[in-house]
Amino acid sequence: MRNRALLTLIVIGVGSAASTAAEPTKAQLEFFEKKIRPLFVEKCHRCHGPDKQKSGLRLDTKDGFLAGGDSGPAFNTEKPEESLLLDAVRYGNIQMPPDRKLAEDEINAIAEWLKNGAAWPEKK
Ligand code: HEC
Repeated sequence: MRNRALLTLIVIGVGSAASTAAEPTKAQLEFFEKKIRPLFVEKCHRCHGPDKQKSGLRLDTKDGFLAGGDSGPAFNTEKPEESLLLDAVRYGNIQMPPDRKLAEDEINAIAEWLKNGAAWPEKK
């Protein structure tokens, strides 16, 4: 019995270490650079960038994105579909960007990016 409990713990430990340590693939990073970063720059930085951080959220750095805003993490690592950021661009409980909803393919790109682990290069 004791051994089995220990084994379970080890399996869970290895599993979660592997998922958090997983490096994004080149394709995932390229997806971010082509589809997501430009979108954040154009549609979000005005209020969530170097000059203004509405609700404490910055979307111009990886650290800012991961830290989230006043309501907590914008990215739900366990359930990406339920991420606050995705809810916001889908015009759920909050509506982002406030003035105009993103195009359907932009929202889908964000959903896909989050689902695949929200790849963002370390340094920039
Ligand atoms: C014109 C300014 C403006 C723009 C542009 C904007 N936001 Fe916001 N954002 C806000 C404000 C203000 C809040 C505070 C909540 C509210 O008042 O609805 C907020 C809150 C949020 C929050 C919740 C943060 C928290 O923890 O409370 C998220 C997530 C968010 N915005 C994502 C985005 C995304 C993604 C974009 C771009 C697609 C974006 N926002 C563009 C003004 C803006």
